[in-house]
Amino acid sequence: MDTNNFTEKFYEKYGNRSDKPVLFFSPGRVNLIGEHTDYNGGFVFPCALNYGTYLLIRKIKGTTLKFSTINFKEYLETELKGLFLNTGKSWTNYPLGVINEFIKKECKLSGLEFLYYGDVPNGAGLSSSASIEMVTAVALNELFGTALSTLEMVKMSQKAENEFVGMNCGIMDQFAVGFGKKDNAIFLNCDTLFFENVPLVLSDCSLIISNTNKRRGLTDSKYNERRSECDQAVKLLQSYKPIRNLSELNISEINFLDKYIRDPVVRKRARHVISENGRVVEAVKVLKENNIIRFGELMNQSHDSLKEDYEVTGTELDTLVYEGRKLPGVIGTRMTGAGFGGCTISIIRKADSAEFMNTLSAVYLKKTGLVPDFYQPEISDGAGRIQ
Ligand code: GLA
Repeated sequence: MDTNNFTEKFYEKYGNRSDKPVLFFSPGRVNLIGEHTDYNGGFVFPCALNYGTYLLIRKIKGTTLKFSTINFKEYLETELKGLFLNTGKSWTNYPLGVINEFIKKECKLSGLEFLYYGDVPNGAGLSSSASIEMVTAVALNELFGTALSTLEMVKMSQKAENEFVGMNCGIMDQFAVGFGKKDNAIFLNCDTLFFENVPLVLSDCSLIISNTNKRRGLTDSKYNERRSECDQAVKLLQSYKPIRNLSELNISEINFLDKYIRDPVVRKRARHVISENGRVVEAVKVLKENNIIRFGELMNQSHDSLKEDYEVTGTELDTLVYEGRKLPGVIGTRMTGAGFGGCTISIIRKADSAEFMNTLSAVYLKKTGLVPDFYQPEISDGAGRIQ
């Protein structure tokens, strides 16, 4: 990120070089293991990336808000005069949704000029939206001295996504983006929000993110369908035990599913959530013991469960994962994020990384007609001011 160049772009758009804008950064995230467990009160294990959203922001007199981004042409100028309405299919819904949450908390805002730049690929399951939300929240919090805690801003950003954007996500993405810690992953209990930073020490291995580059399709509607299948499972299981969510059941209770859930699809969904929670707990334990090989096996099992039981993978993700597993130096590989497209996350021996990317790229192109992208991320801190 060339900050001088970015600042220059800000002045070209908004003028007035005598008043310097402030620079904030918020990461994207990748989830290492624990998928589709967050909205079931379960465990997740994500980390924040060095890819994310940069925001240059400056207060101006009056009540005008001006939004622009380097990524898209679309520009919005609007007035602060009450709660905002969704602007249709537009990137500005993310900041506007967050601003609404500030207004609801009766925070006194004034005119602002925003310039965003994001280097997380959109719609790839790396939380570009949570990243825009959180960068907006931390910037407003600092500029207007609202003294909100990170957790409050995480919840406000999730609310913006749920209620304003209309995507009924859990809390994992905003939490990872807000609480990220350099070189650590976050072991989060999504029911209690208790979390622990765990150093991500991979010795002679590294993380590689592979993007299917599949166009985002039915992700949101399928996501909501999975959520309601889990709700159905909870209702049915309440005749066995008064549970609030599927994560209150442990792996030894998985056999009871057959008895209480007749519908094989709903039963499979519940089985995924319960088994995935078990895998996250073990993954964190073995990582602390430096047992990367077992960590990789658990990642592989997680993908298999997301394919067979939760059915959120698809040809592109499966091709990257199952072809990837055939290659030398691959310790573990799985889809990450909501699924149906987006990215995989893999742990690869450093010495084999180049061959992994070259060979997988060719095989994937041959099988799907798509060219994948690869990222070798660093693990970064959460959202905050950088200049
Ligand atoms: C998306 C959602 C998250 C989480 C994952 C699946 O990324 O935004 O809340 O549910 O899918 O684990």
